Amino acid sequence: MELITKAPKGTRDIIPGESEKWTMVENVMANEAELNGFSEIRTPVFEHTELFLRSVGDTTDVVEKQMYTFEDKGGRSITLRPEGTAGAVRAMLENGMPNNGYPIKLYYKTSCYRYEKPQAGRLRELHQFGVEMFGAAEPVADAQVIMLGMSIFERLGLKDDVQLAINSIGCPTCRAEYHKALKTYFTEHKEELCETCNSRLERNPMRILDCKSPICGALAKNAPKITEYLCDDCAAHFEKVKSLLTEVGIEFTVDPGLVRGLDYYTRTVFEFPSSRFGYALGGGGRYDGLVEEIGGKPTPALGFGLGFDHIMLALKEAGTEFPTESKCDLYIASMGEAAQLKAFKLVGELHRSGVAADCDLCGRGLKAQMKYADKVGARYTIVLGDNEIESGKAELKNMKTGEKKKISIGEDFLDAYLTETTAQDDLAF
Ligand code: HAM
Repeated sequence: MELITKAPKGTRDIIPGESEKWTMVENVMANEAELNGFSEIRTPVFEHTELFLRSVGDTTDVVEKQMYTFEDKGGRSITLRPEGTAGAVRAMLENGMPNNGYPIKLYYKTSCYRYEKPQAGRLRELHQFGVEMFGAAEPVADAQVIMLGMSIFERLGLKDDVQLAINSIGCPTCRAEYHKALKTYFTEHKEELCETCNSRLERNPMRILDCKSPICGALAKNAPKITEYLCDDCAAHFEKVKSLLTEVGIEFTVDPGLVRGLDYYTRTVFEFPSSRFGYALGGGGRYDGLVEEIGGKPTPALGFGLGFDHIMLALKEAGTEFPTESKCDLYIASMGEAAQLKAFKLVGELHRSGVAADCDLCGRGLKAQMKYADKVGARYTIVLGDNEIESGKAELKNMKTGEKKKISIGEDFLDAYLTETTAQDDLAF
């Protein structure tokens, strides 16, 4: 029975009371991205498995251990997206966006799927707010994307709880030398490495730096640092990014051990850790080789993903207050069949004019209807009975002040209602 009454492990429902907060936070993020010239993209929840193997990388934890992969009825290998970048790149190319010129700036709010060990804030269905920028190679693009992330945290009131850690992991040229140095170092400790890292030693030694096992983690601390192997161009790019961030007053720490968990990154990588909450609220970086890898022309690109579930948890722990707006402007209570029909019609009229209104749908008595009106926080109420139907007038009660006014419930009801209340100021359109 549990199988149908409990959501699968690592997933959760966002229910009323919480969903409004999610929408508010999503709107802050989307608004901030739009201020920076980003437009929303929506891509499918599943893609061909090959896309993620090529982009995220076949030696990453995400691909090796966490993907929800299955064969569809047509025999194709399909994967639920474990992250948003690969799909955004595929969609950008498939829809010919480069034809309209660069930079291309996209943002998305998506659910992602990773078979992880569920723990506080770590889920199997996770939610991300992400941005991706294509065609901008300059360090100023890195600084602007990072600044956008920081502005979002500032607007959410989390600025003091979030830090910025940055690093450069170079380009394929400087990384070749670095890989050699890493291989030499880790080969000396081969016996101590976990099984997965042993297999990574030959194929992709940099992945060992991201291993969660405490022994590999301790070895990684003393491993050679990529920053000592950067080629001149990558070193200059990194210096410029750092100086631009300093110029705009964004504090950061350089973490030479920061390599990120996905393979597509080049040059600047960054994360938004939180020492207060103990988990990363987001991360991203440059991925100048990925567009070409997926079949496009060589195109510099960069972006970040913010962990929505982590951010909502952080806001909760920080005690953030969300404005609670009543969703009901007018509740029309009724007694008797004729009054019920009238209430139903008036509520329809109000909805068509953009006013939030409600009436009884459960056949309740007047007392229970008024209790409901109170529960939904109705700003005004009207009670309709046979007398009101006959006279064509009813009492409009302001629930906050208790003030009552007679208004027409005839043809001119809407005008009368709008004149007497503040609903006019709130009309959505
Ligand atoms: P990521 O670091 O894998 O990057 O994920 C970004 C954020 O998503 C993390 O910092 C974390 O807050 C959240 N997150 C990841 N896994 C989970 C989970 N299992 N449960 C809850 N939250 C989680 C990416 O996904 C890249 N696509 C970001 C990017 C965009 N890079 C360039 N563009």
